[in-house]
Amino acid sequence: MKLLLIGNKGQVGREVEQSTETAGDLVYGFDIDAIDITNRKEVFDLFSKFSSVDVVINAAAYTAVDKAETDKELAYAVNRDAVENLALACKEYDLPLIHISTDYVFSGDKTSPYSEDDEVDPLGVYGKSKLQGEQLLFQSWDKAVVVRISWVFGRYGNNFVKTIVRLAKEREQLSVVRDQYGCPTPAADIARVLLHIARKIEAGCDRWGIYHYCGAPVTNWYQFARKIIDLASERVGLKIKQLNAITAAEYPTPAQRPMNSVLQVDKICHDYGIEQHDWMDYLKNVIAEIDL
Ligand SMILES: NC(=O)c1ccc[n+]([C@@H]2O[C@H](COP(=O)([O-])OP(=O)(O)OC[C@H]3O[C@@H](n4cnc5c(N)ncnc54)[C@H](OP(=O)(O)O)[C@@H]3O)[C@@H](O)[C@H]2O)c1
Repeated sequence: MKLLLIGNKGQVGREVEQSTETAGDLVYGFDIDAIDITNRKEVFDLFSKFSSVDVVINAAAYTAVDKAETDKELAYAVNRDAVENLALACKEYDLPLIHISTDYVFSGDKTSPYSEDDEVDPLGVYGKSKLQGEQLLFQSWDKAVVVRISWVFGRYGNNFVKTIVRLAKEREQLSVVRDQYGCPTPAADIARVLLHIARKIEAGCDRWGIYHYCGAPVTNWYQFARKIIDLASERVGLKIKQLNAITAAEYPTPAQRPMNSVLQVDKICHDYGIEQHDWMDYLKNVIAEIDL
């Protein structure tokens, strides 16, 4: 399989690139240092050179959730306008597109897991920009699969796991939010899911549309931090003595987060035959691999 991968230097993109290489696929990976996807001409120039690929995967995005509140223009340029550029280029060359979106398209007010049919109502600029990206994509091109994911962690880039390990080495006390619920999703597991979908598409599957995927089981940030600290403490001496559970109201951030980020994965399991994986196994690997 030949893939065009946009955003190959992000935490998900790097895992996709590595998985394709080990599986013997041919991947042409590009990131901001090689192409700015907010520039339509650059996108079309790139696609004209790689029009023979089987599938395009977009793992590029503006992901600084809090910064987006004051950096609106760039967040919308990357998460909305650039997605339209990619969709139009895919349409021009008749290429299927797999694009990643987020649980932040929801308000989090629902008390059960979110399905693909649930009403979207993002709380902040990041969620709004990602939602408008999804909408523009499907207005421009219909051979597309959007996979909404949540709480990404992995060995590359910055994420909650790395932040907690760093803070647990620096501080004796740490406070973490206990009343926001979600499913951590390993970047390596997302790569598995995206490549599975790409292979199905290459084999002729045409189940386009929006899908949800996340790891299992449900947790909250406090419990997740507890697991991270327990695992990291088996590898390295930590300074932390006390982990406090606090409410989201006690930890205000520029962007409001959904209280419930849990995604229902039945549709992707049914349509694409994907199994939901336990994030704990991946967490052990990530803690074993990262610099502590
Ligand atoms: N992280 C999460 O917890 C989370 C949760 C739900 C959904 N998602 C979604 O999952 C996807 C992957 O996220 P991630 O965490 O892997 O993101 P990431 O680590 O921030 O990677 C995104 C990559 O896109 C690049 N990029 C930014 N603007 C670009 C542009 N104009 N042209 C080309 N490349 C550009 C970034 O470069 P720079 O680093 O130089 O900007 C970075 O290498 C995104 O769609 C994100 O919205 C993430």
